Amino acid sequence: MTVLITGIGELTTNVDGPLSGAALVLDGDRVVWVGPATRAPDADERVDVGGRAVLPGWVDSHTHLVFAGDRTAEFNARMAGKPYTAGGIAVTVGATRAASDSVLAAGLRRHVAEAVAQGTTCLETKTGYGLTVADELRSARLAAGVVDEVTFLGAHLVPAGVSRSDYVALVRGEMLDAVAPHVRWADVFCETGAFDEAASREVLTAAAARGLGLRVHGNQLGPGPGVRLAVSLGAASVDHCTYLTSSDVDALASSSTVATLLPACDLSTRQPLPDARALLDAGATVALASNCNPGSSYTSSMAYCVATAVLQMRMSVEEAVRAATWGGARALRRSDVGVLRVGARADVHVLDAPSVTHLAYRPGVPLTHAVWRAGERVG
Ligand code: NIG
Repeated sequence: MTVLITGIGELTTNVDGPLSGAALVLDGDRVVWVGPATRAPDADERVDVGGRAVLPGWVDSHTHLVFAGDRTAEFNARMAGKPYTAGGIAVTVGATRAASDSVLAAGLRRHVAEAVAQGTTCLETKTGYGLTVADELRSARLAAGVVDEVTFLGAHLVPAGVSRSDYVALVRGEMLDAVAPHVRWADVFCETGAFDEAASREVLTAAAARGLGLRVHGNQLGPGPGVRLAVSLGAASVDHCTYLTSSDVDALASSSTVATLLPACDLSTRQPLPDARALLDAGATVALASNCNPGSSYTSSMAYCVATAVLQMRMSVEEAVRAATWGGARALRRSDVGVLRVGARADVHVLDAPSVTHLAYRPGVPLTHAVWRAGERVG
């Protein structure tokens, strides 16, 4: 079944600059043709988008969606001046452990559906609110059936009642063995109060030895070794990057590790916004992601992240849209998503606007008009 999309006001492909007068053809789950509308081939179905902007679906490369419970009280306290500490993770761990499989699965599906309805077509999510072998395994299994990419984050926080050294040994041993078959990635929260550089390295090298790709939560709440560690281990991505030194920026620029920025989290935790300009100007690859989770960033809106990046982080609209699509794909080491070219997955986002500039020009306005994911109309 082929679908011809015409009437495109502005087409963002992430291959060329913005195109006008272009059309797209989807066949099954793939893009099979991109070019001038005047030369478009026939198709089984024709969809005229009436002059609207078309871009690749968002690639949200950092979320924590396997959770139960609510942290409104913590958010209110923060807005009243209390600082964010990672200690709130334990509240979600308690609620998640107590929830049934069906409650956890329903919450996960509800948040994924919320993201898809806003144009997200490729989604990563993490374990990390279980923190026992059985609970981490359960989170990984639930996520594997629902999202594109699953990350093991047993090293999120040392749970109450377990010594730090015992917990690190558990994560890098029995827990990793149990969860590894269900995930592609392993991640560590490398931060003061969570896991130090040595423990983070131990967990990540054990994960790499089991064939998992690496990701790091780093430099979120203060300067630290996260970026250095991620680059030295060849991690696909280091996420947060809120507090970077110039040597962190240089290290990222001369590596293939993507700097994944999570501006919604920085706003919600009252941290400064990351220096995207320094990263881009130095030549680093930048991704934008939502970090949707119940504690530090409870939004699934990639459009909000793009608007923030443009309005407050001095990224151009083109840079921000690219970071939220192709940047996310690079952070997941994928070349089939975040791009509209022949052979790519047919993940298409139509905005109710003539150009992607409206994402920042009309912040907060729901601009998603239509969404195809792997060729299927999902919104
Ligand atoms: O990416 N930094 C660690 N993990 C999450 C926060 C999770 C939470 O507070 O529940 C993050 O911000």
